[in-house]
Amino acid sequence: MIASQIRRARLEDVLGAIGHENVQGEEQQKLDVIANEILLACLGSRSGVAIVASEEGEEPMILRTETDGAKRYCVLFDPLDGSSNLDVAGGVGTIFSILRYEPGGAPEQSVLQPGARQVGAGYILYGSSTVFVSTTGSGVQMFVLDPAVGAFLRVEENLRIPASGKIYSANEGNRAAFPQGYRDYLDWAQSHGYSGRYVGAMVADVHRTLLKGGVFLYPPTEKAPAGKLRLLYEANPMAMLVEQAGGRAETGEGRILDVQPETLHQRIPVVLGSADEVARVLEHL
Ligand code: AHG
Ligand code: MN
Ligand code: MN
Repeated sequence: MIASQIRRARLEDVLGAIGHENVQGEEQQKLDVIANEILLACLGSRSGVAIVASEEGEEPMILRTETDGAKRYCVLFDPLDGSSNLDVAGGVGTIFSILRYEPGGAPEQSVLQPGARQVGAGYILYGSSTVFVSTTGSGVQMFVLDPAVGAFLRVEENLRIPASGKIYSANEGNRAAFPQGYRDYLDWAQSHGYSGRYVGAMVADVHRTLLKGGVFLYPPTEKAPAGKLRLLYEANPMAMLVEQAGGRAETGEGRILDVQPETLHQRIPVVLGSADEVARVLEHL
């Protein structure tokens, strides 16, 4: 549903900003709101879903917490990632993280579990084709939407990220505000024949990194000491996918998946990708 809305966005006149900001002080696009409503409607009717939490909502939504022996889950998502790319028909995506609902304690605390406890994670990339990449903790699967039949067809079983790859992906416009170690790494990469690639949509940048290798960076900056990306519904699901594919995902001070979250929308620096390339960044840090 989201893919088809995005493909028709210019025709349906649903491009552009809605005129107010989300809880993070970011301008909401009309399609951010549409994608969020689609996900809430679809997940809301599922008996297995106890709690949903979205980039576009201030607090988690508690749907059902009764435990009649059934397993229930928390689903956290970024309904539309990279939404500033919409106006230029660039790649955008949806990212999701699935945690087990833990009865006892305040229900909203159930979403604040370290990423290592995710039971599933994935993204959908609305690019030149619609690609669905997911894991439930035993490898990474990749599917492509066949619009002719309306189904996702598996194109890769147990996807593996290359161990190395001479590509770095960062917003170099922020370079002067990066900590010294990141600037040293960029100098090193540039003097060793690396290419730079940056879409500005995490889903598209991580997807390329998974398939072609390299490293994706969103470092801390002077203005944003914790970086920009959100731990619970951007960094954690991507970290699980990358690790499941044989790569690494770090904050610069440790493994992303080991971070104990404190708030729903907290941010975290991200260094993820091919194991050898992440190690090289960490050496410079
Ligand atoms: P969102 O559209 O969900 O707010 O996320 C945008 C994020 C992410 O997709 C991307 O990696 C990053 O913002 C790009 O940020 P810069 O424009 O600062 O490079
Ligand atoms: Mn995002
Ligand atoms: Mn978003």
